[in-house]
Amino acid sequence: MPELTPVLSADEIRLLVKNMAQRISVDYRDRELVMIAVLKGAFVFLADLIRELTIPVKVDFLQAGSYGDGTRSCGAIRLVKDIGLDIREKDVLLVEDIVDTGLTVNWILDHLKSFQPRSLGVCSLIDKRERRETEVPISYSGHVTGKGFLVGYGLDYAEAYRQLPGLYHLKL
Ligand code: IMP
Ligand code: MG
Repeated sequence: MPELTPVLSADEIRLLVKNMAQRISVDYRDRELVMIAVLKGAFVFLADLIRELTIPVKVDFLQAGSYGDGTRSCGAIRLVKDIGLDIREKDVLLVEDIVDTGLTVNWILDHLKSFQPRSLGVCSLIDKRERRETEVPISYSGHVTGKGFLVGYGLDYAEAYRQLPGLYHLKL
């Protein structure tokens, strides 16, 4: 039976998200901000994040699939769903739930660069550094962690646990 240990409560996440949104609102005032969330994990985070912004924003989604084993991506990535908005000359922030090895985000960044945005940054709720394989330019991160598999607040294990309002460590 998998075991869940609390990592961040819903209240703690709310504070982190509010803080990130405030920093983004300052940095992107008078810009044309487009937030692109990576499906599916980042949808809860994006929904809370944009509601704490004090500046206008446009939203889009992208889905990438990796051929990993469920807890680890192996680096071979394919595009499942592309963005629909025109982001040329826009200030784009990629919104991720968690950056682990970094392979997924860097692949997505390369893809988005081909649309020639004015700027391109990364905002990740969780920065999991222990298994990082490639440097990722994360401009905003809410929580830094080491090893371990996290679920809840949009993050899944085999599509389960996304609905939990807090974040938990899953002992497999
Ligand atoms: P990366 O390419 O190794 O950085 O993997 C990034 C993707 O793997 C994330 O967008 C998540 O979908 C998934 N992932 C990595 N670590 C976790 C975790 O601890 N919990 C849930 N999903 C994770
Ligand atoms: Mg993800």
